[in-house]
Amino acid sequence: MPNNTIQYSLAPMAGFTDAAFRRICGSFGADYAVSEMISAVALTRDDRKTAELAKITPGEPPVVLQIFGHEPEVMARAAEMLLSGDYRGCSYAAPPAGIDINMGCPVKKIVSNGEGSALMLDPDRAARIMTAVREVCERHGVPASVKFRLGWDSEISPAFARRMAEAGAQKITLHCRTREQMYAPSADPTAAARAVEAIRDTGVPLVGNGDIASRGDAQVYLDGGCREVAIGRAALGDPWLFRRLKNPAEPEDVRPPLDEVKRLVIAFVADVVREKGEERGVHESRSRAAYFIRGMRGSAALRDRLNHAETLEEFSHAVEAWEA
Ligand SMILES: Cc1cc2nc3c(=O)[nH]c(=O)nc-3n(C[C@H](O)[C@H](O)[C@H](O)COP(=O)(O)O)c2cc1C
Repeated sequence: MPNNTIQYSLAPMAGFTDAAFRRICGSFGADYAVSEMISAVALTRDDRKTAELAKITPGEPPVVLQIFGHEPEVMARAAEMLLSGDYRGCSYAAPPAGIDINMGCPVKKIVSNGEGSALMLDPDRAARIMTAVREVCERHGVPASVKFRLGWDSEISPAFARRMAEAGAQKITLHCRTREQMYAPSADPTAAARAVEAIRDTGVPLVGNGDIASRGDAQVYLDGGCREVAIGRAALGDPWLFRRLKNPAEPEDVRPPLDEVKRLVIAFVADVVREKGEERGVHESRSRAAYFIRGMRGSAALRDRLNHAETLEEFSHAVEAWEA
């Protein structure tokens, strides 16, 4: 893909951006997707569930694997394991398209370990992690990237972005909120423009992220100099968004026909079940399917039926019988 082509990616979301969902978003035009965050420590300790998060299956768009941790050596070892496929349970239909470092997660359990967005409070350590992971990626010929927020409680992202670019980041994704803001109030895309300015001479591209649900939302980031945008929550019930973002001829105010929504939900759940087994797949799919039907007529009643479905067959019947 030439450098000047705008890319639209699926942002990493723990509990959501698994293989089945990445595949759907790819089918609607996501240029690549980022995995759920993977614990570097757990991977190096041979944790089976962690290895599952790194699975890449047929039919997915290119998948960047995201790792989190706070020790440069452990992060580098995890990157090496992921890129060489040298860990128990490794299963790749295609090799990982890169390694992304999580420096944005706001969750208490993570930041209390000095990981995720806590790394923004320790730029020296963050830079050592970045450099160590970049060295591994370099050996494997894939890019090393990093994703972070505006800062902990105030905007330091321009300086932090510069530091990460100098430490070896080849792409930077900025979620335009501070850690303190968690997921509200609205993201501030003008901050992305300030970070772009700070790294302009390094040539490292900035990916804008936060509250993108329409072409207009994406355009604000692109006008500020972002070369890509990453979509998170808006894609959860609306993977069609990727098609609309990439195709200006697609109307933005028309919902997909009900039959298509039903087909997609059933195919999605079948896919999750294939990946994770029926019991876990159906249970996990209840809340995830709710995103696809949110706001539609009869969605509350359908949600209720889905919450009682135990098998893929029951789940599919409930969706098929739904009259919106
Ligand atoms: C449920 C959930 C899980 C998330 N998990 C991750 C994660 O594993 N790694 C990460 O870097 N960001 C994670 N994020 C943050 C998103 O990637 C994104 O930065 C944020 O949701 C803002 O983008 P949006 O407004 O398009 O959703 C998560 C967000 C949500 C809502």
